[in-house]
Amino acid sequence: VGSSVICLKETDSTNSVAFKMAEEGAPEGTVVIADTQSAGKGRLGRIWLSPPGVNLYCSVVLRPAIAPVAACQLTFLSVVAVARAVERCTNLKPQIKWPNDILINGKKVAGLLNEMNAETEKVNFVVLGIGVNLNLRMAVISEGLLRHPATSLLEEGGEEVDRLRFTRALLEELDQLYDNFLVQGDGPVRAEWLARSAIKGRSVRVSQQNREFSGVVQGVDSFGALLVLLGDGTLETVLSGDVAFI
Ligand code: BTN
Repeated sequence: VGSSVICLKETDSTNSVAFKMAEEGAPEGTVVIADTQSAGKGRLGRIWLSPPGVNLYCSVVLRPAIAPVAACQLTFLSVVAVARAVERCTNLKPQIKWPNDILINGKKVAGLLNEMNAETEKVNFVVLGIGVNLNLRMAVISEGLLRHPATSLLEEGGEEVDRLRFTRALLEELDQLYDNFLVQGDGPVRAEWLARSAIKGRSVRVSQQNREFSGVVQGVDSFGALLVLLGDGTLETVLSGDVAFI
């Protein structure tokens, strides 16, 4: 990861650039970074605010020989890599919130968006999109633009984070985690995800589109689903929804 790094001053979305490059044959490990994005993509078709000079917006092309259903395992890699990089570069304690939010003091500090190109049986490539709020002053962002309470490493830690140093730490961690993933599968990274999320054994309320239920988290499976034990003894596999601690 990072054998080839393309740095852009401005682009629409590093994910879109990386995706196009991958379609044209860019090798595994290609990284696209931009200082600012005019149309940063968030999950569920949302926009990812991408002001210049303060944050990290990067996308990584991977070509693992895995089935499309297993591609969600790569999200564990980015989540854990960001958490480790935050710990390397600050004194902050990142928390992981299922499915893939990274919070500090309960506020979102990073967002991840994977995009995949696959056939029925095999993945051609995956683009891991990673956005981390490093030195953003939250006061400059109007509240109405944020869906969830958000923050930056500067706001929480009180110190500027060197963008190059953070980027290097992130890519190093990702590289190491990916190598390990190719050899050992998702077991170790999933275990670290679970330990860091501090969610196992916690009571949660799950809200889905037309259903709400409570239970105790048993873990997370290889497809990224949360396993929740209900009061009546049934084990629910939760693939989407909002999860709140109770
Ligand atoms: C989320 O909604 O939480 C995911 C946000 C992902 C943002 C990153 S920034 C770099 C990459 N390029 C994009 O257009 N999106 C991702």
